[in-house]
Amino acid sequence: MKTVEIPSLRVALIGAGKLAWSLIPALQEAGAEIVQLISRDAARGQHDREAYGIPVGGTRPAELLPDLDLVLLTVSDASIPEVVGQLAGRLSPATVLAHCSGSVPLSALSGTGAQSGVFYPLQLFTRAARTPLQGVPFFLEGNPGALELLQPLATAVSGRWYPLDSAGRRQLHLAAVWACNFPNLLFRLAESLMPAGMDFRVYEPLVRQHIDKVFRELPAASQTGPALRGDLPTLQAHLQMLADQPALAELYRTLSDLIRPGVWEGQTKKGSPGEP
Ligand SMILES: NC(=O)c1ccc[n+]([C@@H]2O[C@H](COP(=O)([O-])OP(=O)(O)OC[C@H]3O[C@@H](n4cnc5c(N)ncnc54)[C@H](OP(=O)(O)O)[C@@H]3O)[C@@H](O)[C@H]2O)c1
Repeated sequence: MKTVEIPSLRVALIGAGKLAWSLIPALQEAGAEIVQLISRDAARGQHDREAYGIPVGGTRPAELLPDLDLVLLTVSDASIPEVVGQLAGRLSPATVLAHCSGSVPLSALSGTGAQSGVFYPLQLFTRAARTPLQGVPFFLEGNPGALELLQPLATAVSGRWYPLDSAGRRQLHLAAVWACNFPNLLFRLAESLMPAGMDFRVYEPLVRQHIDKVFRELPAASQTGPALRGDLPTLQAHLQMLADQPALAELYRTLSDLIRPGVWEGQTKKGSPGEP
């Protein structure tokens, strides 16, 4: 449901990928006018323009329309420097150029003549479905002219945003790998260790209950398991069961030691991950 509207903005996007597929309709619902979508894949660009009623296309950044309020780079991180290079000296100081990356510094946008900013949503996007943006945390950075536009835009699109500089955003992105990508690897490893023929979904009630607790009580108060209890016989039995998978045995050993430092030596001190 739309809660805040922004003054009419003329917006162009460069890059018709996973983020653009969800961001374009969210911007439109917030009241922005998406006047152009540039995609180097002309068929994909046309598909998305027809889906969202965007009047103008193009396949090269140099084809950007004049008098834009905002140009959003929704290209892959690796392509940002190349696209910015193609915009060198082409934008006016009345335009804001922003990228949407968690790991590319603000400085990557310099040299176009525009105000520069970052509009980074901490969420996963796919082209298989639209991801709603209401409530998704956005992390914003930029010079004052850019923030003047990006802050109300983030309020209208999501209602939840935080200022964060490039170093902080890099740190947030690193932590996101631990919060999201590594847990999924652990789910895959858990699935590989299950009794043959069983469906991973038997873990769903357990995992959902745990995730609820993590966000209610926070991770430090949510740790459970044999390592935390200092249950050495169970830990050793598990290690024995992993004897023919040395990489997993090593990981099991390391993670258990991070949950409770000294647990393998029978020590009883409970620690926090990362504590010496
Ligand atoms: N996906 C996510 O979950 C997510 C989450 C938060 C932030 N982001 C950020 O959003 C931005 C876009 O990511 P994405 O996942 O949407 O990427 P994506 O799905 O890979 O799409 C990127 C788009 O940019 C185009 N492109 C790549 N290089 C280009 C170039 N040199 N010139 C013109 N177009 C080019 C690609 O075209 P081709 O198909 O021809 O390669 C593709 O259409 C990135 O900065 C990313 O860090 C993504």
